[in-house]
Amino acid sequence: NDQTKRVHNPDMVSIAHRGASGFAPENTRSAFSKGVELQADYLECDIHLSKDGELIIMHDEKIDRTTSGSGFIKDYTLAELRELDAGSSFSEEFQGEQIMTLNELLDEFYEQIGLLIELKYPENYPGIEERVVSLLKNYEDLSSIIIQSFDVDSMKKIHTMLPELEVAVLVHPSESILSAKKLDELTSFASYINFNVSFLNKRMVDKVHERGGKVFVWSKKDKKLVAKAQKYGVDGIISDFTKWPIDEPIYLVQE
Ligand code: G3P
Ligand code: CA
Repeated sequence: NDQTKRVHNPDMVSIAHRGASGFAPENTRSAFSKGVELQADYLECDIHLSKDGELIIMHDEKIDRTTSGSGFIKDYTLAELRELDAGSSFSEEFQGEQIMTLNELLDEFYEQIGLLIELKYPENYPGIEERVVSLLKNYEDLSSIIIQSFDVDSMKKIHTMLPELEVAVLVHPSESILSAKKLDELTSFASYINFNVSFLNKRMVDKVHERGGKVFVWSKKDKKLVAKAQKYGVDGIISDFTKWPIDEPIYLVQE
């Protein structure tokens, strides 16, 4: 299918965290283009809702850290958010870079690469699941798109609304040892269970695999991310410095 055409090695996919955010401002068009250039298999992004209900790509709930503005995304309209400079905080080279919407990401990147779309704090954005599903229903082939969140109920909701769309549950580092019962529950609807590699062990990966699930890993600190990912036999690595082939120990993600 379409996904196998895009994926370099289905046994270990390479996911550009917030785009190739080690090389360009996170969650911007430049970072996503860089992820494509570096031959990642997927682009990871984070989404929120603006005041006028648009799906905005940004990591934090507030615009302060990554843009020229201040305050919460939910208090601004898309038109207002477009005025912001989302590039200079990374480097002057990217001055004037604009924020993107999920609609634009799909328009510009869906044909080229897989997308791993994280719903950030969906409990703060009532109706965000319906908006995402309604947007994705415009795409006949959803095999290269995965939705993820730390919010289990939100992922169950997405799965119920659009079962052919794969969902992933992100596991909080402090809760990385999951009981058999919890694993059964999560793998009953989620195709992926994604962990911080520093708090993971091979047995947990095996348990997800035994239940037919897949595992992606990320890490903010663990320099052995790639080595551990390979040793544990995980299905993908999420990193800021995505490159193919996965062969260098520089795959950490930022705070
Ligand atoms: O995809 C894993 C990772 O994105 C989760 O952490 O804070 O970068 O969204 P964060
Ligand atoms: Ca994320």
